[in-house]
Amino acid sequence: MPDIAYVNGRFGPLAEAVVSIEDRGFQFGDGVYEVIRTYRGQPFAIDEHLSRFERSAQALQLSLGHTRAQWSSLIREGLRLSRFPETKIYLQITRGQAPRDHPFPSSLAPTTVLTFRELHPLEASIRKAGVQAITLDDIRWGRCDIKSVNLLANVLARQRAKEAGVFEAILLRDGVVTEGSVSNVMVVRNGTIQTAPEGPRILSGVTRAKVLELARKEGIPVDETVVRREDLLGASEVFLTGTTVEVLPVVRVDEQAIGPAVPGPITQLLSRRWETLVG
Ligand code: PDD
Repeated sequence: MPDIAYVNGRFGPLAEAVVSIEDRGFQFGDGVYEVIRTYRGQPFAIDEHLSRFERSAQALQLSLGHTRAQWSSLIREGLRLSRFPETKIYLQITRGQAPRDHPFPSSLAPTTVLTFRELHPLEASIRKAGVQAITLDDIRWGRCDIKSVNLLANVLARQRAKEAGVFEAILLRDGVVTEGSVSNVMVVRNGTIQTAPEGPRILSGVTRAKVLELARKEGIPVDETVVRREDLLGASEVFLTGTTVEVLPVVRVDEQAIGPAVPGPITQLLSRRWETLVG
């Protein structure tokens, strides 16, 4: 089955999908996106993703151009056409096509793009062993809560991680953990899960919210608070959350062992609860 794309009203093979070089997404990164995955063929947490999509668009005075019901039916149509066992669904809206000029014309038709690609889950052995991370300065702008296609700092951070032979870059603003380049970061200290509070410095992760809810249900205390680099390195457990990483243990940060350098009990418990939640 080929990868499928939808561009401004038409579904077709992804390899043939094009947008104009005058698109403001190409010229300025002037757009927002979402990544949704399926479990058992069904899109997961579609309402939460679409509501964040709306918030991101609103924050940039962008029009999403479609109602939530219309987005849902485009997603279902793409899944019907692509028919992968599991799918990574990408939604993107840009401000549209106009001669290059920083201020934007008020009545531009947004460019709408969706892509449907086969989702290849992370290998079970990686998940079981846990991954490594490095820390880097968070050099992003002040509105990381907006899921903007402007991902230059995230791209550079993930590239640094790749070059260091590790899975993720954990970002620090003035020595305080914000999030990962593609994930939210949680630490366990004295039996409490600590993670950065929602706000302009992090993306309000859909997985983050669900995992914190699972933790609270298990009676595990949750503290949305300042986590400094030394708290991270001294934690008994560290894990990442995100649509693609799910609940992923981190066993070394900056080459230092986290606890005994194996996935910890709280991470493992939440990972099991996550599997139950997603069926
Ligand atoms: N990234 N923080 C950042 C910077 C992210 O890019 C992501 C997800 C998350 C986790 O959010 P969620 O749980 O809603 O997926 C946190 C997606 C998958 C991406 O850009 O590919």
